[in-house]
Amino acid sequence: ALAAETQSIVNQFEYTDDDVNKGVKEFLRQMAEGLEKDGTSLSQIPTYVTGVPNGTEKGLYMAVDLGGTNFRVCSVKLNGDGTFNITSDKVAVPKALMVAKTAEELFAFLALQIKKFLEKHHGDHFEAHIRRRMTVSSPEGYKDENVFRMGFTFSFPVQQMGINKGTLIRWTKGFDIQDAVGKDVCALLQQEIDKLHLPVKVAALVNDTVGTLMAHSYGAPGSHGAVLGAIFGTGTNGAYVEKLSNVKKPMVGEYDTSTGEMVINTEWGSFDNQLNVLPNTPWDVVLDKQSVNPGFQMYEKRVSGMFLGEILRLVILDLLKNPDVSFLKDDNSSTNDLRSTTDIAETSSIFQQWGVDSSILSVAAGDHTPALTLLRKGLDDNLQIHAAAYEDAQAIKSVADAIGRRAARLAAVAIAAIVLQTGKLNDPAHKDEPIDVGVDGSLVEHYPYFREMIHEALSIVDGIGKEGAKRIRIGLAEDGSGVGAALIALVAAGMEKNTT
Ligand code: BG6
Ligand code: GLC
Repeated sequence: ALAAETQSIVNQFEYTDDDVNKGVKEFLRQMAEGLEKDGTSLSQIPTYVTGVPNGTEKGLYMAVDLGGTNFRVCSVKLNGDGTFNITSDKVAVPKALMVAKTAEELFAFLALQIKKFLEKHHGDHFEAHIRRRMTVSSPEGYKDENVFRMGFTFSFPVQQMGINKGTLIRWTKGFDIQDAVGKDVCALLQQEIDKLHLPVKVAALVNDTVGTLMAHSYGAPGSHGAVLGAIFGTGTNGAYVEKLSNVKKPMVGEYDTSTGEMVINTEWGSFDNQLNVLPNTPWDVVLDKQSVNPGFQMYEKRVSGMFLGEILRLVILDLLKNPDVSFLKDDNSSTNDLRSTTDIAETSSIFQQWGVDSSILSVAAGDHTPALTLLRKGLDDNLQIHAAAYEDAQAIKSVADAIGRRAARLAAVAIAAIVLQTGKLNDPAHKDEPIDVGVDGSLVEHYPYFREMIHEALSIVDGIGKEGAKRIRIGLAEDGSGVGAALIALVAAGMEKNTT
């Protein structure tokens, strides 16, 4: 009976080939809509970045990154031959700051981390500047050679007004500081940097997906650049290179038109908020209702790391509640298994919202031991589900795998749509060449077979097929945010020179 019950749940997470194809069509439609006007569910934000690098860029830049699991500060030396040296520190952002009353609290914390980083890794540079700063006042001070140009990777939806200017549209991934919404996040950071008199100018505002796209292009010289940079981590999103002529909505800032292209931040986490095609199980419904942003990021809530563990948690809770489910009362005589709620510690994080980390799905997917030893140990260590019986672990594994597989197939929808949109598969000038997609984030790094499942789904998409899927190269973009943001800071610094 348990197996039958589990099977019915697994069936609800099934996302068929037909669903994938319908999803791709709708994704393409919503992409086009987002290029026409503002306020659509797929935001399609112009980034003012008009080209991808080719590996020859050189110089020392800073980069900071807010929006994944950590806040990272780095300095990046671009060597000009596709290689780079990176120095970086990271700290977890305190949970209280993610929901602070004022923006200042969060940004002051960020500026302080930048100060600590400079003191630790660039002491000489820092001292020299502080001395100079006595005689030169801002903004002229920013022309000082000792001022670092910094790329600010801020991985939330921002309406960009220029390469280093953009207002926050809304928070995602559990952040919620209303005071910051509508404000220019670069100015917020610069203000706090200036209060500490740091030799840093926020030169570029970068989404992590844009950084990933840039970094993957820099690191793969000769590949004509990546077509897409995507994150499958705490959240999910993608940025791609679009023809300028396709961007129909007005853009307020200035940009270089010579390449005829612009990088677009899709903010695909909010693909199909209206649920035209997205699957919607009862557990998806509850998760959304209990989130800080109901009705938004509907695609992200089915795909990314922050949410997969929560979906699994809600399914398990349902199984525990339902007296008819054999999960609770199998005739196994063991007292120490998952047959009644009492076998789960009352303090188990299974009873707390967000209490199940998505890493347990990775453990489940990677457990090929005959007795599911790894998963049972994981359940014990992480969720205080002690000595789960094999059958129960098997049930959890089946559900977890179904959630993970649905996520990967949904991920394929976005990737397929963007590859089709770029027209690269049918471009006679680049026949048979690989199509590079750079990816980053904890999910794609740690969830076993995520990329394989994506590939399998790509091969059944109309217009891609087996042959097309073979050309799509999904590569991990290392240090995306650091190198990518540094590269954009470099482009932005070049633009400063041209305009002064
Ligand atoms: C990191 C990138 O590797 O991955 C960040 O440097 C990005 O820019 C992050 O935001 C996403 O992964 P996660 O799992 O931290 O959300
Ligand atoms: C969320 C953010 C988006 C970011 C993504 C990955 O979807 O809104 O800006 O790129 O997470 O970190």
